[in-house]
Amino acid sequence: MFLVTGATGDLGRRIVRLLRERETSVRSFVRLNSRYAELENRGSEIFIGDLRRERDLHKACQGIQYVISAHGSGETRNGDAETIDYHATVELIDQAKAAGVEHFVFISVLGVDRGYEDAPVFKAKREVEKYLQASGLSYTILRPSGFASNLLPLAEQFRQTGVYLLVGDPLSRTSIVSTDDLARLAIESTATEGARNQIFSVGGPEILKREEIPKIFSRIFNREPFLLNPPLLAVDGLRSAIGLFNPRLRTNLGTLRTLLANEFFTTPTETERLESTFNFKLETLETFLRRYLGV
Ligand SMILES: NC(=O)c1ccc[n+]([C@@H]2O[C@H](COP(=O)([O-])OP(=O)(O)OC[C@H]3O[C@@H](n4cnc5c(N)ncnc54)[C@H](OP(=O)(O)O)[C@@H]3O)[C@@H](O)[C@H]2O)c1
Repeated sequence: MFLVTGATGDLGRRIVRLLRERETSVRSFVRLNSRYAELENRGSEIFIGDLRRERDLHKACQGIQYVISAHGSGETRNGDAETIDYHATVELIDQAKAAGVEHFVFISVLGVDRGYEDAPVFKAKREVEKYLQASGLSYTILRPSGFASNLLPLAEQFRQTGVYLLVGDPLSRTSIVSTDDLARLAIESTATEGARNQIFSVGGPEILKREEIPKIFSRIFNREPFLLNPPLLAVDGLRSAIGLFNPRLRTNLGTLRTLLANEFFTTPTETERLESTFNFKLETLETFLRRYLGV
């Protein structure tokens, strides 16, 4: 039996779907107020709880072989990195170990080891990585770049308006990962010998300049892009203004700024390592988008 945290998230629900397609038993850790009907309809066991409560984590881990930790604070949306990304995950590791879990998969983030001081999510995830490595549990750490599924609402908006908002340097590079490929990697990490006690950087198969994304949209929808390209300074201005009345949101926007100000891509060597360890080819951003957008 798998336990998936963050099961109602973009990644988590894909992990649960894929497990159920493979007829594997899975327990989805969800909050009462979340949208979990789809997971239940697919045959997942539903565990209602809150990751901030130790007893919920304790109960959820009973009878579990594999944990996939795919929750997140949604910190760029004013969540709490310290409570959810750090404390809850460390507690989940402790409870998994106590319950005799065989393998723990942790979804970290690409660039976590670069020491970004201004990005609480990155700091929390790095500390969790170290904790997991020292825990004695068998583990796999996946460090993904940005998810392709993040772009689906932007693509829909582009379909309607032709507008694409690109904040910061259009030439900075990224290697956006198919969220479905990441779900598959997370699941297969539990049964792949070469993934045991390993850390993988996970990106898509191509390195894109950010300005190429509206060009992909343009090809898909056969529509000329209208690019809005405010400088990063606009985010800094917004942060300062917000800081006057909401200091926590100001701190949280540090993670967003870090994401916008830096390059997040995987090298061909890293991609090759991933594809050969897991024995499948990663899909491109365009293939992912076309599958979901039906074009
Ligand atoms: N999105 C990206 O581009 C990206 C890139 C690199 C790494 N990551 C990492 O990948 C993981 C998955 O990302 P995602 O975008 O799929 O996440 P997401 O859509 O933001 O989902 C977050 C999940 O965590 C759950 N959660 C938050 N607080 C909780 C609590 N107190 N109790 C129980 N559940 C709680 C949410 O439940 P509710 O539905 O109830 O809110 C949701 O299911 C995260 O660790 C994220 O940091 C994401």
